Amino acid sequence: MKAQPFAVSTHLAAPWSPDSWQSHVAEQQPRYPDADALSRALDELRALPPLVTSSEILALRRQLAEAEEGRRFLLQGGDCCENFAYCTPEVISNRLKVLLQMSLVLVHSLRMPVLRVGRFAGQYAKPRSSATEVRDGVELPSYRGDIVNAPEFSATARVPDPQRMIAAHSRSALTINFVRSLIDGGFADLHHPENWDLAWVRHSPLADEYKRIVEGISEAMHFMETLSGEPAHNLDRVDFYSSHEALLLPYEQTLTRQVPRQQGWFNLGTHFPWIGMRTAALDGAHVEYFRGICNPVGVKVGPSMSIEHLLRLLEVLNPDNEPGRLTLIHRMGADVIADKLPPMLDAVKREGARVLWVCDPMHGNTENSSNGYKTRRFANIRSEIEQSFDLHAAAGTRLGGVHLELTGEDVTECTGGARDLGDADLERAYHSTVDPRLNYEQSLETAMLIGRKYNQLAG
Ligand code: PEP
Ligand code: CO
Repeated sequence: MKAQPFAVSTHLAAPWSPDSWQSHVAEQQPRYPDADALSRALDELRALPPLVTSSEILALRRQLAEAEEGRRFLLQGGDCCENFAYCTPEVISNRLKVLLQMSLVLVHSLRMPVLRVGRFAGQYAKPRSSATEVRDGVELPSYRGDIVNAPEFSATARVPDPQRMIAAHSRSALTINFVRSLIDGGFADLHHPENWDLAWVRHSPLADEYKRIVEGISEAMHFMETLSGEPAHNLDRVDFYSSHEALLLPYEQTLTRQVPRQQGWFNLGTHFPWIGMRTAALDGAHVEYFRGICNPVGVKVGPSMSIEHLLRLLEVLNPDNEPGRLTLIHRMGADVIADKLPPMLDAVKREGARVLWVCDPMHGNTENSSNGYKTRRFANIRSEIEQSFDLHAAAGTRLGGVHLELTGEDVTECTGGARDLGDADLERAYHSTVDPRLNYEQSLETAMLIGRKYNQLAG
């Protein structure tokens, strides 16, 4: 395939390079105490193989462009923050299973291909609201994700350690390798959805609905194959892409590379990096870094972002208005989305900007439970998704996907859902070191409610 000309930085006066972000203010970066150790780790990373290829990245861009046109739906999900201890075969395959099950439900109800992107294989860095944490009068650097330091509240654990970037790169490689091997080995074959059964499915309040969907798909496939007399193509494998918040810029820079026979620079540490809410300043280091790479780019858009800011971001990050380049992930909160989102939709539409709109119903709905846990209520998550569909329909724009924090494990971190978890249940299995995730059952329920809402609007 001929390389597409990505003129991402040519119109801007300032030249771009993989390190040009260094002359801008970089928010949310750790302070490494040993500069030599940092530069040794970065040298080592620069020499290591990348995790993904430019052709995969370009294929994803094309599929995101199709999602913009309403020909695909994006399902992006995974942990708020991966951590080193959970880089295990069970955690990886259970997360893959729940994403595959959700995509099956979505394919069935939306009747279009689902673009699957995992928040995994690199989601190791976290923005924090404060640079330090104080407990019982002791002040230590905040935990910034396993790629930076360790969560235990001790001085040694909290010192940023550059070797952790190498560990994060290795674990990302192990994760993506295992996902690719499972998929190549037929794990994602639609003919065998039983591969994805998690132990709980049989006992879930959602089991019957899920079973009906699987049977519906199996019958349709059987029908097609009988009719054509041969196996249906492309049902035995699926594409899976990886994404993470590209927060830790020294790390991202080492994986930003040129490749033979392609123009431009690619972040080869992930297919789909995104800019978080806290690092979207127009003149900041993150926006500077992102404007020069050829990957598709996600931007989190919260209620505090002004229309002016949003429009300038579109200009800087997608000056040539290329399809598939920019995904806007709105995360407003169920109580404010009806006020905040419509003016943004109108403004972007008026500009004629090509973007994929995606709803993150998680980050605007975080609250503290009565017993002191950081949690989210399923009813609010549901409400934000449903309102998103309605608000896009009213604005004449399209909701092309969702961005979720979820796990394939039986955790109790968000309340509500089919089992109506209450605050007291949070004590049973709260494992997240950062934000609360939907458990397997709440995730599947989310896919079902998206299908129902979509069909209600369509029909
Ligand atoms: C996240 O996706 O985990 C995150 C921190 O999101 P936001 O930047 O929207 O707060
Ligand atoms: Co989060």
